[in-house]
Amino acid sequence: MDNKSYQDHFFKKAKIEGFRSRSAFKLIELNNKFKFLKKGIKLLDLGSYPGGWIQVASQKIKNGKILGVDKKKIERIKGTEFFTCDFHEEKSKKLILNYFKSRINVILSDMASNTTGNKNLDAIRTNQLCLDVLNFSKYILISEGVLISKLFMGQDFEEIKILAKKNFKKINFFKPNSSRDESRETYIHCSGLST
Ligand SMILES: C[S@@+](CC[C@H](N)C(=O)[O-])C[C@H]1O[C@@H](n2cnc3c(N)ncnc32)[C@H](O)[C@@H]1O
Repeated sequence: MDNKSYQDHFFKKAKIEGFRSRSAFKLIELNNKFKFLKKGIKLLDLGSYPGGWIQVASQKIKNGKILGVDKKKIERIKGTEFFTCDFHEEKSKKLILNYFKSRINVILSDMASNTTGNKNLDAIRTNQLCLDVLNFSKYILISEGVLISKLFMGQDFEEIKILAKKNFKKINFFKPNSSRDESRETYIHCSGLST
C-alpha cells in the first residue's frame, strides 16, 4: 500500500469505528501481541491527544483507573481523567504520582515531539521522551508492571535499549502493521521491574 492509500485506509477505518485517531489501531495490535489491558488495572497514557489510545484502553479496562496526559487539551472520555501538562516537567510527574496514590500496572507512551522537518532531530527529541518515561517507570510501576513506549530507530536507540535492560527483566520491540513501513517509529515493550 502506498503512503496515501495507507493514510486513507486507516483514516476511514478510524472514522467508521468511532476512534479519534488512526493510532488506536497500533494499541489494538500491541495489546493483541502482549495482552496488558486487563480488568481493574491502573493505567497511565502519556501523549494521549486526541485520545484514540484512551478510547481503546477504556473499552478493555473495566473498574480500573485511567489517566491521560498531553500538552494539548483533550476532550473528555467517560470514566477517564486527563491532565494537560508537559511530561518533561517535574511538577507533571508529581501530579501523576499524587493522582494514583499507589503504584500502577501499565504505562503507555505514544509521545512524539513536534516534527521539525529534520528526521534525525525529531528522532532524538522523541527518544528523549522515551528515556524520560523509562526513568519515571521505576517510581510508579508495580514490580510486575508493563511499559510500552514509542521510539524512533536512530542514534539513541542503543541508549534506550541499555536503560530498558537495566530497569526491566524483559524487553521486546514491536512495530505494528498499522505503523507506516517508511516510518522509523517502533515500540518497546518492557515488563517486570528489575529489583
Ligand atoms: C502521536 S500523538 C499521540 C496519539 C494518541 N496516542 C492517540 O491515540 O490519539 C503524540 C502526542 O504526544 C504529545 N506530546 C509530545 N511531547 C509531550 C510532552 N512533553 N508532554 C506531554 N505530551 C507530549 C503531543 O502533544 C501529541 O499529542
